Amino acid sequence: AVDIAKLRDLSTFITLDSGYKNTGATKSAITFLDGEEGILRYRGYPIEELAAKSSFIEVAYLLIYGELPTQTQLTDFQFRVSRHTLVHEDMLKFFDGYPSKTHPMGQLASLVCCLSAFYPESLHPNQTPEEVELNIIRMFAKMPTIVSWIYKKAIGHPVMYPKNKFDYVSNYLYMTFGHRTEEYDLDPVIVDAMNKLLILHADHEQNCSTSTVRIVGSSDCNLFASISAGVAALWGPLHGGANQAVIEMLELIKKDGGDVDKWVAKAKDKNDSFRLMGFGHRVYKNFDPRAKIIKEACDNVLNKLGIQDPVLDIAKKLEEVALHDEYFIERKLYPNVDFYSGIIYRALGFPTDMFTVLFALGRLPGWVAQWKEMRENKEPIGRPRQVYVGSTTREYIPLEKR
Ligand code: ACO
Repeated sequence: AVDIAKLRDLSTFITLDSGYKNTGATKSAITFLDGEEGILRYRGYPIEELAAKSSFIEVAYLLIYGELPTQTQLTDFQFRVSRHTLVHEDMLKFFDGYPSKTHPMGQLASLVCCLSAFYPESLHPNQTPEEVELNIIRMFAKMPTIVSWIYKKAIGHPVMYPKNKFDYVSNYLYMTFGHRTEEYDLDPVIVDAMNKLLILHADHEQNCSTSTVRIVGSSDCNLFASISAGVAALWGPLHGGANQAVIEMLELIKKDGGDVDKWVAKAKDKNDSFRLMGFGHRVYKNFDPRAKIIKEACDNVLNKLGIQDPVLDIAKKLEEVALHDEYFIERKLYPNVDFYSGIIYRALGFPTDMFTVLFALGRLPGWVAQWKEMRENKEPIGRPRQVYVGSTTREYIPLEKR
């Protein structure tokens, strides 16, 4: 006979896996990743093919709904999204209140969370599938508008309103680089580079921000607050914030005289906490397949836009030195997607502290798809355990005797 009391005792045995290096928290049908082989597929489709042949909105549809859309489905999706690109005018009041130096990621996290105030039906755990779907469309449609506002504020320009004759990515570029007083000519090189960058960032299975979205959502928390939590998790320099950190590091090396070897030596020195930003990855122990595609896109953009930038020359030297250095080879530390994305964003004219916001724009379909999957699978609330290492019972000493 099974001794239930003993089985209950077994629940006190806990697997300790700091950083969840080997712990699967969910079953997912969205993204396949093989870090040893350097393979990444969304819903079964290789990332290389999607980046070469699809638009970002098509990939978003694929991630969220599980299939590549037919032309009719895509047209319908684009139409529904375009109906919701405006953000409630009252949100501008919150937005106006941020000090101009507020980090863009702080603004993004709070503005996304703020959407829940405007769509309170999103708070009800028992929403109908139609209500859930509507909020997914709202979230996806309003994100480029919010992200463009943040950029406009940073440069002191008035915010732009969406022009729904443009596709998703073009609309974002128009709201970012366009002006109220002028026509905006879309540059196909930039539209293509943006589409590729966003596709490459669109999902990456259970990374820090995505796990955060799922775990926050598992308490039945609404979509907007769950995505906002993902934005906060992405902010850190060991995750999405690395693309900003890469350019800051390159600028520092340039200011210091451009001696790449000296900085590589610093990164290898175990008494120095400095790390080469944009190198290494928790799961890729081979070249990050996204980095391969983005490196090519990066070269294209720089050539086509005819950009000469000493910081980019340092990036190239660093890549060269690190790729042939024993320390980096042994530890399988290759340049990751953030190494190249920061370089492209800089070439496109984005200020450095906007880079992680652009990562969030790309990652949004993945977060939404993972949140939706978690709900549809009726996953239990996420609640990791711990190994307690504090004091055993202590005698309470009244304040006057301590
Ligand atoms: N520069 C120098 N040494 C490094 C670097 C680096 N960028 N990354 C890892 N190492 C070394 C570590 O010191 C360690 O060496 P040791 O074995 O001699 O102690 C070894 O490589 C393994 O490193 P861990 O920290 O155990 O690897 P982990 O998988 O935990 O970390 C991480 C991965 C956080 C990405 C790490 O490589 C890093 O900090 N990279 C720089 C930041 C970065 O680019 N982050 C972006 C990640 S991609 C993304 O989020 C989309």
